[in-house]
Amino acid sequence: MDVLETLDLSSLESVDRETQQKSIRSLEEGKVIYLPKLGFALNPHENAFLTPKLLSPKSKNVSFDSRRGVHGADCENKDELKAMMERFASHANQVIKSLFPAYADHIKQGRTSFRPAEISGRPSSYRKDDTRLHVDAFPATPVRGNRILRVFTNVNPNGVPRIWKLGEPFETVVEKIIPWIHGPLPGLSYLLKTFKITKGVRSAYDHYMLHMHDMMKGDLEYQKSAGQTEFHFPPQSTWVVYTDQVSHAALSGQFLFEQTFYLPPKGLCHEESSPLKILERFLGKKLI
Ligand code: SIN
Ligand code: FE
Repeated sequence: MDVLETLDLSSLESVDRETQQKSIRSLEEGKVIYLPKLGFALNPHENAFLTPKLLSPKSKNVSFDSRRGVHGADCENKDELKAMMERFASHANQVIKSLFPAYADHIKQGRTSFRPAEISGRPSSYRKDDTRLHVDAFPATPVRGNRILRVFTNVNPNGVPRIWKLGEPFETVVEKIIPWIHGPLPGLSYLLKTFKITKGVRSAYDHYMLHMHDMMKGDLEYQKSAGQTEFHFPPQSTWVVYTDQVSHAALSGQFLFEQTFYLPPKGLCHEESSPLKILERFLGKKLI
């Protein structure tokens, strides 16, 4: 299976129904929807934000959501930074609305992130090392079956691509990794919630997804032997991915926007290809 579904659009106006149907099918099958001609133009004064010096000392990214505002940045013109983050959030929202109108009733917008630091060569623990193949899962924020859909745009001003690796289909990852994972310990999810280690109860689905994430990253033999293809996303290109399903690794690059969305399972058009259904079929039990 080709891992990319490339769409030739340079604008989001009048996307035809056929393109929308093809896009949603490919997206839910686990492909990356790649829009090589759809960029995100910065306003001239926003070029000043294209520096890792923008980040506060312990932050890797600038993050924004409408309730908590902007975090992770040390700068004077916070209002202008917030306006840029909001503009990308609304651009990403437009991408989703135009390509996947079927999601409109159920999708929820999450955090917006701006990543002005070079990602290669950054020291980190193996669990946080996104240069290793993984599927996304959050240790502290259980999703309980909700999908993690992300829109990325490379805004590098120097012609530098975002280099990713795309791994094996989700089913293959499950077959190789899940047999090594023990089921959740009874009562643990309530302890994690009670001691505020997780926001809400970690479902069995979250347990398996998180352990899959950790085990993929921690197994260097898997990292070497898994089927994988490198892909270069050039500046002013956009891609949309279910990062809870598509095995990916981000090797290098600098200056990226990312917008996270959450979609409950009932919002999917092809639910049978979701990670939840694939895991439930493989394990022969309900996980939510
Ligand atoms: C990731 O989701 O693993 C990181 C993506 C990126 O920063 O390019
Ligand atoms: Fe990731």
